[in-house]
Amino acid sequence: MRISDKPIAARLKELGVELRPDVDLAEETSLGIGGITDELRLHRYDTLPQVMRLLADAGIPHRFLGGGTNVLIADGNLPWVVLHLPSAYPGVRIDGNFAYVDASADLGGTVTFCAKNDLGGMEGLIGVPGSVGGALRMNAGAYGTQIGSYVREVELYRAATGEIETVRGNEIRFDYRHTSFAPDDVMLRVKLELPSRPYKDILAGIRVCNEKRRASQPLNQKSAGCIFKNPPGASAGRMIDELKLKGHRMGDAAVSDRHANFFVNVGHASCTDMLGLIDDVRERVRTAYGIELENEVIVWKN
Ligand code: EPU
Repeated sequence: MRISDKPIAARLKELGVELRPDVDLAEETSLGIGGITDELRLHRYDTLPQVMRLLADAGIPHRFLGGGTNVLIADGNLPWVVLHLPSAYPGVRIDGNFAYVDASADLGGTVTFCAKNDLGGMEGLIGVPGSVGGALRMNAGAYGTQIGSYVREVELYRAATGEIETVRGNEIRFDYRHTSFAPDDVMLRVKLELPSRPYKDILAGIRVCNEKRRASQPLNQKSAGCIFKNPPGASAGRMIDELKLKGHRMGDAAVSDRHANFFVNVGHASCTDMLGLIDDVRERVRTAYGIELENEVIVWKN
């Protein structure tokens, strides 16, 4: 969607929003898949309610893009603009056992920054790509750690009220790859409480997780991590592997040879290729095991 030539562009500029026309989202996602749209980069959190009001008044649909690591975006000209939250490096401030983190901060960078300040607990999350906001919304987890366990407060933009609000950790439900946030809540900042641990001990834990991940996941290929959630008591990766689907392709979208729940873009895969592969594998698993796999990857269709 092109808004850079519309009257709203000047109003957004007045709010300090940077407008980038015709951005190829394939370059902003770890899958290397996605169409074209205008992109808005916010530079201040407090302008968000005004920006959202402007977009709503002009009838312009939008999506927030975090790290782009767990999303499959439609091809072609997209019917919505993409917003990016303000980002500053490292986006983390430490005060005692608390870490105050921007949603746009890199999750791995945050784990490392906290470790250097002798704050641990999140070692398992080290290799999970993406932003802290994305991790928070999905309750990202790996190797027995889930980010939700450490959340004490979240500052968010609540679309329902049009206001920025602070929610206490114990008011949020964190389940497996799911949270009680409303779908249109926008994570802005989070306060984490982390256990004190010497840096060298945290580093040892980080190394173990990195090695496990390197041994089992296709880290040097374009992917969005696991495509399906694990059904209760079962492993999506193991079932797909048992069906001998490693290497199975649709166009340039392929089931990874290394981990069957990772689908990779081996060339110039389109969203249609990837969705075709996802549906095909889901169908085969349903037929063989009677289990309906649920997407873990977030799909942005046209
Ligand atoms: N397995 C196979 N073949 C495969 C892949 C896995 O037989 O191709 C078997 C493994 O041998 C193991 C079992 O399936 O016995 C589970 O595999 P793994 O330990 O790799 O974990 P996973 O359940 O497939 C989950 C998360 C990952 C996370 C790892 C490590 C989900 C959907 N996936 O994978 O998260 O990194 O555990 O904690 O919950 C992601 O969220 O995108 C993601 C990759």
